[in-house]
Amino acid sequence: MELKEKIANDFATRFGGEGNFYASAGRINLIGEHTDYNGGFVFPGAIDKMIMAEIRPNGCDTVRVRSIDIDDYTEFGLNEEDAPQQSWARYIFGVCREIIKRGGTLKGFDAVFAGNVPLGAGLSSSAALESCFAFALNDLFNDNSIDRFELARIGQSTEHNYCGVNCGIMDQFASVFGKKDHLMRLDCRSGEFEYFPFRPEGYTLVLVDSVVKHELADSPYNRRRESCERVAGRLGVETLRDATMEMLDAARADISDEDYRRARYVIGEKQRVLDVCDALVAGDYETVGERMYQTHRGLSEDYEVSCEELDFLNGLARECGVTGSRIMGGGFGGCTINLVKNELLEKFTGEARRQFCERYGHEPKIHEVIISDGARKL
Ligand code: GLA
Repeated sequence: MELKEKIANDFATRFGGEGNFYASAGRINLIGEHTDYNGGFVFPGAIDKMIMAEIRPNGCDTVRVRSIDIDDYTEFGLNEEDAPQQSWARYIFGVCREIIKRGGTLKGFDAVFAGNVPLGAGLSSSAALESCFAFALNDLFNDNSIDRFELARIGQSTEHNYCGVNCGIMDQFASVFGKKDHLMRLDCRSGEFEYFPFRPEGYTLVLVDSVVKHELADSPYNRRRESCERVAGRLGVETLRDATMEMLDAARADISDEDYRRARYVIGEKQRVLDVCDALVAGDYETVGERMYQTHRGLSEDYEVSCEELDFLNGLARECGVTGSRIMGGGFGGCTINLVKNELLEKFTGEARRQFCERYGHEPKIHEVIISDGARKL
């Protein structure tokens, strides 16, 4: 059954009648990983995997919401002490609270949602959920007076204040601003961004999901961020965006080896994003791909957010002649993103399935990426 139909049936059964439909998307990131919270550049796009919700104000001060995929239902009030127990519901509660904290209007509502963003694959299903509700509640209660960047920040603050992840802005930004057939280069320091047409002639972007799950909350993710902040502090700059390799090397004696490697990766990644954007405009996919492999190496050896399965998939891509491949998203599991020449597609996906299964006992999940629109009213 279609997502929309499934949600409509569920909504009608539980609440009667109908509400408005909203959707938001998961995201990929071509390059620029762990740079957002360092004031650097990212290069994401929204994808055709989405979270969709049907929502209707209910005239009281209670939110009543059902997740079809988790097969769960909860109700909560809008005050700080009303936080729900379920982690999925905290994303929605957080968005409500962050709107209220910013002086926005909010009343109770009924909602049913479902989606097809693979969970734990590094495709930001949580950002899709946050931005879907932020967008909807802005439309339903605030006459769309909250600007889109603030909607992304509402999602990000939800992660910080209600979900325990000190994430950057990339995921929520991509979900909110995503545009069909375009990637976006965002300068996370200034908030300026630019759309780049993305239809790589003769290539396909393929995600290979290792199905190894990661849990970002309370995890090594926050520790990576702390390392970066420590080094920035040592170097006397606000964020690593303003640091150079020369500065880092000059201060090496005062920095732990681990922090040094974390910062070395981030400083290199900053430049790689710019290189990839230039190469893309020039149609130079070899350079795009080479930078992707360099990012993978940095994430694996210096930033240490990869895992055996993802390193294996990256090596396999190299062996198959795939143009570019790297771990994508926060890391600690999830998927690789691969830039694959169309004539290699079948060979690569076939080998990835066969060899991964032989080694780890289960097949990876493979998705071809379609760059799509982000948050919207349907
Ligand atoms: C997660 C975070 C993002 C970003 C990436 C790594 O997806 O939510 O803010 O830091 O990891 O690039």
